[in-house]
Amino acid sequence: MTICSTTLAACADIKGNTVPLAKTAIHQKNGQSDVQPLKSAFKAKFLLGTALNYPAPQGKAPLDVDIATSHFSAFTPANSMKPDALQRVEGKFTFADGDRLVEIAEKCGATPIGHVLVWHEQTPAWFFQGPDGLPVSRDLALARMRKHIATVVGHYKGRVKQWDVVNEAVSDTPGETLRQTPWLKAIGLDYIAEAFRAAHEADPDAILIYNDYNIELAYKRPKALQLLKSLLDQKVPINAVGIQCHWRLDSPDIAEVEQSIEQYAAIGLKVMITEMDIGVLPTKYQGADISKTETMTPEQQAVMNPYAAGLPDAVARTHATRYRQAFEMFLRHKDVIGRVTLWGTHDSDSWLNNFPVRGRTDYPLLFDRQGLPKPAFFAVQRAATP
Ligand code: GLA
Repeated sequence: MTICSTTLAACADIKGNTVPLAKTAIHQKNGQSDVQPLKSAFKAKFLLGTALNYPAPQGKAPLDVDIATSHFSAFTPANSMKPDALQRVEGKFTFADGDRLVEIAEKCGATPIGHVLVWHEQTPAWFFQGPDGLPVSRDLALARMRKHIATVVGHYKGRVKQWDVVNEAVSDTPGETLRQTPWLKAIGLDYIAEAFRAAHEADPDAILIYNDYNIELAYKRPKALQLLKSLLDQKVPINAVGIQCHWRLDSPDIAEVEQSIEQYAAIGLKVMITEMDIGVLPTKYQGADISKTETMTPEQQAVMNPYAAGLPDAVARTHATRYRQAFEMFLRHKDVIGRVTLWGTHDSDSWLNNFPVRGRTDYPLLFDRQGLPKPAFFAVQRAATP
């Protein structure tokens, strides 16, 4: 069996051509620049983004930064701009990591993306507690939300060009449109509209995005459309919908995603693909609700974590084909798609190694664990330059 792993001296691209390990972002520095920057293939099409995690702005992830600056034209902080990173303690804002990421992006001409202002995860509990320890009043919750947004968006005004304003507000539960979040409970139905208004007030030029997972799927899309249409009807300043696109090898159906993009565009919104990855490991759970977990007993290792020693070539090709089909479809809609962002730089940097099952070896991205371009990289490149 041929394995495209980190231990061999070469791997095969989508057409089976052998790709020497020297063809990498890192190796370009050593004078071997035969891999074209991926971002240049997408230049007149849409921004091609990646996400950078905590270690990157702290100077602890040179490989990630090298891949990002060489191949991507938009950077999303994976965690450094979430509420628990920026305002862990009420009134004390900590911008150092976020600032550094914005500098790294600006230095290489990439667009800094803001992620995320209002979410039910990674948001300190104090936001939702009154001074008496009881649940916060609507007025205080609204004031805190507005202050957080005004301070953060104001701090990055003119520099962070796009903001995920509200994340994952649509419910997965049948018959329920909005997720029962602490924000909904504290403020009420208008918390989403109020968040967008506050963001627009703080930076009228920023592109404001509603971001969610599985809203490209039939069970959730009608709810998202209902929410977004109602925001537009109320003249809420929202510019785009962000479809996260945390996918697997066998789902979703690309035709279903295409239909979603057409439907979101038809109501007048731009579409951003905000967190794309294609996991290759088995899971019962499809989605990105980070509170969901699955366990793996030692006996289940072989089935649940089958590629710990390397990814079989056949799986790498299937993975690449799926990326190519996705990007060919995105390119058909480049008039409405503003950005396609991958959730991470290389495979060891992916959250899918620990979600929904901890401690596995997944291969969801375009670069392998050494930072080498995978068949999926070449498939995406070829989709843009057929
Ligand atoms: C969601 C969030 C992201 C990130 C991913 C998992 O999709 O929007 O910020 O936390 O989950 O890494």
